[in-house]
Amino acid sequence: MSADIQSARSRPLTAPDIVAAKGGEPLVMVTAYDAPSARVVDGAGVDMILVGDTLAMVVLGYDDTLQVTTDDMVHHVGAVARTKPHALVVGDLPWMSYHVSREETVRNAAALIRAGAGAVKLEGGRKRLDAIAAILDTEIPVMGHLGLTPQSIHAIGGFKVQGKQLDAARRIVDDAVALADAGCFAIVLECVPDGVARMVTDAISVPTIGIGAGRHCDGQVLVYHDLLGFEDRMRPRFVRRYAELGDLATDAVRHFALDVRAGQFPSSDETYHMTDQLEIAIDMSVVELAGDGADTAAARAPRNRSELTDA
Ligand code: KIV
Repeated sequence: MSADIQSARSRPLTAPDIVAAKGGEPLVMVTAYDAPSARVVDGAGVDMILVGDTLAMVVLGYDDTLQVTTDDMVHHVGAVARTKPHALVVGDLPWMSYHVSREETVRNAAALIRAGAGAVKLEGGRKRLDAIAAILDTEIPVMGHLGLTPQSIHAIGGFKVQGKQLDAARRIVDDAVALADAGCFAIVLECVPDGVARMVTDAISVPTIGIGAGRHCDGQVLVYHDLLGFEDRMRPRFVRRYAELGDLATDAVRHFALDVRAGQFPSSDETYHMTDQLEIAIDMSVVELAGDGADTAAARAPRNRSELTDA
């Protein structure tokens, strides 16, 4: 953690803190989508929490990121922001939220800010300059995203490494320079060769945050469910799994099911008991009811815990 970032620890980090960290200790960003995951990543001391549109895939079960709306993102940004993290919360603008008009773009970016984000992210190069200018004009910090831009999977033909040819590499560098010049405070580089990431990192004065872009970036980002071993459908080579919490969770639930079926859960310690006096009083009133000949559920009910276990 850089000295600037360290000294900002007593208050939530801001986009200018992130810009100031360029060239210092690498920045760390992890995605989160709800309060528990936000508490985990903020507790680990990350610099930025990205409420990514990967929400669609890793939380909502879709096959791509195109399925989430601004309302979905607002819902999840709100859950993350309510934990009041120190990390900067970056809200991802979903597909079609910044493609229609400047007015819609600004309204959607503002909705994420009102939900608690401190900045927004959008995908694409120079053709997004108009959208970026409109958002920046409302004083909302913007993070760019180049290389593999998952919102374009139909146009680029799938989840593929980008910038492998000279022309494509040049285009990514030029796009990055244009985005930085336009005022983006950081740029995510996804799935590009490390040489391209190095050129971009050297060419711009704001931090590059890599995912599948090698080590020549000013920071790195991973998706929470990949890092912790919850997501099995895709395992790209750039994902390092620091835990296998998915397997651990399945084992824990399997253990619970075994205990329930074997009558081992709940134990007496995990149960609320009545005082003996109250139990006797209740037993007596049930006996009285039964004595009145009332064919009630109470009269048929077991009278004490041993009857319950025997039943
Ligand atoms: O939506 C997301 O999680 C992202 C990261 C993969 C950078 O954009």
